[in-house]
Amino acid sequence: MRSSIPIPTWNILVVGRSVTNAVDPATAVEHLINYVMTFDRGRNMIITPLRVPLIPAVEHLIGLGAPYVWPRTSSDYWLYAELFSSTCPVAMDNDDVIGVVIAFRSQNKPDDVYVQDVMSHPDHRRRGIARALLDTVHQRASTWGCHRLYLTSEPDNSTAHVTWLSLGFSNIRGDRITNGVSVISNYKGQGKDRAVYELKIK
Ligand SMILES: CC(C)(COP(=O)(O)OP(=O)(O)OC[C@H]1O[C@@H](n2cnc3c(N)ncnc32)[C@H](O)[C@@H]1OP(=O)(O)O)[C@@H](O)C(=O)NCCC(=O)NCCS
Repeated sequence: MRSSIPIPTWNILVVGRSVTNAVDPATAVEHLINYVMTFDRGRNMIITPLRVPLIPAVEHLIGLGAPYVWPRTSSDYWLYAELFSSTCPVAMDNDDVIGVVIAFRSQNKPDDVYVQDVMSHPDHRRRGIARALLDTVHQRASTWGCHRLYLTSEPDNSTAHVTWLSLGFSNIRGDRITNGVSVISNYKGQGKDRAVYELKIK
């Protein structure tokens, strides 16, 4: 099933393996093959599953995300790379890590894929990185037969809010609205209010 997120024209190349024929993005993600898409007026961006050698660069990138995202421990990233890499795509411009999404399929509710972190490098915003990475996760979730992606963001993260809406997510109704954002109080525990968003997979 195809993604409902509008994406730029895919320019698929298979890299990192001795495969010569092009594959579609869903197949690439499923088999953990790197693929390439165009961004920023024709430059190539490689989307690749998180792997252990990329962890320091990913930690550095996420360290640039304050006050809305912050690095976890190196052991956490090892876990993501070893156990969840097909839903943790990394965007690269040559050797530079310029974006990452960390997401997981729920074991408690296997129809759900939860997106924990989305981060694009501050020098590469508005170039379609978050769109491409979330589309990768969407396609992976779709091949599993999952029904939705969901994520949370801080209620005052207005850039995240417009990004999620632009990518087709809806802001789940909460118990109050702050600056046009619906917020669920104590969603992640006492005092941890969050705006919650979901994207249904058709
Ligand atoms: C939110 C964030 C991930 C968006 O990443 P991005 O790569 O710049 O997003 P994209 O380029 O894919 O944008 C997709 C769409 O979202 C919307 N959008 C993104 N940033 C926007 C902004 N600053 N203002 C208005 N719309 C914006 C646009 O509609 C955009 O499409 P368009 O450029 O074709 O109009 C990025 O700003 C970021 O890393 N922020 C810091 C970390 C963070 O807050 N993460 C979210 C919490 S987990």
